[in-house]
Amino acid sequence: MTSRGGARPRRETVAVYPGSFDPVHNGHLDIVARAREIFGGVVIGVATNVEKQAMFSTIDRVAMLRAATAGIAGVEVRDFDGLTVEFARAVGARIIVKGLRAVMDFEFELKMAAMNKRLRPEIETVFMMTSPEFGYLSSTLIREVAQFGGSVAGLVPPSVLRRLAQKIRSRHAR
Ligand code: PNS
Repeated sequence: MTSRGGARPRRETVAVYPGSFDPVHNGHLDIVARAREIFGGVVIGVATNVEKQAMFSTIDRVAMLRAATAGIAGVEVRDFDGLTVEFARAVGARIIVKGLRAVMDFEFELKMAAMNKRLRPEIETVFMMTSPEFGYLSSTLIREVAQFGGSVAGLVPPSVLRRLAQKIRSRHAR
């Protein structure tokens, strides 16, 4: 089937999915899997410039994402420094994918999309609505619950559960 105007849908289109992923949770992974259904490839960009307040180092955040997405073909995980639009250009992507959970995300995301459009008009931001079961999830909530000993099993991939447990053990040992 061809789209209007006769052009074929471009399965080879690469999308970038940027974020802090501190740590990655199942809501993020849902967006990755769904984006991969639409785009020919998804490059997950782990922003390094959040490191100061981050619980996990860039190396750890990348490793957890790589472990969690190892089974999804066409997904790559890289870290990046600087602007998301420049990262997108560097990997040959014309799409930035973002997940939207609620109205509070929308205002901030709208500003970022507008600024990114101004910086690089050829790059489009595409929003995907978070699946309802993950609507309340955030990395901040995951960190907080885990730090106070609550269970986040079922909300994060096994690689994250292990590293959260290690991190918390090492903090208590100090
Ligand atoms: O997971 P987060 O913390 O919501 O991700 C935010 C992120 C990393 C996507 C955003 O802060 C970002 O794009 N940072 C890179 C620097 C940049 O491009 N800033 C201008 C955005 S308009």
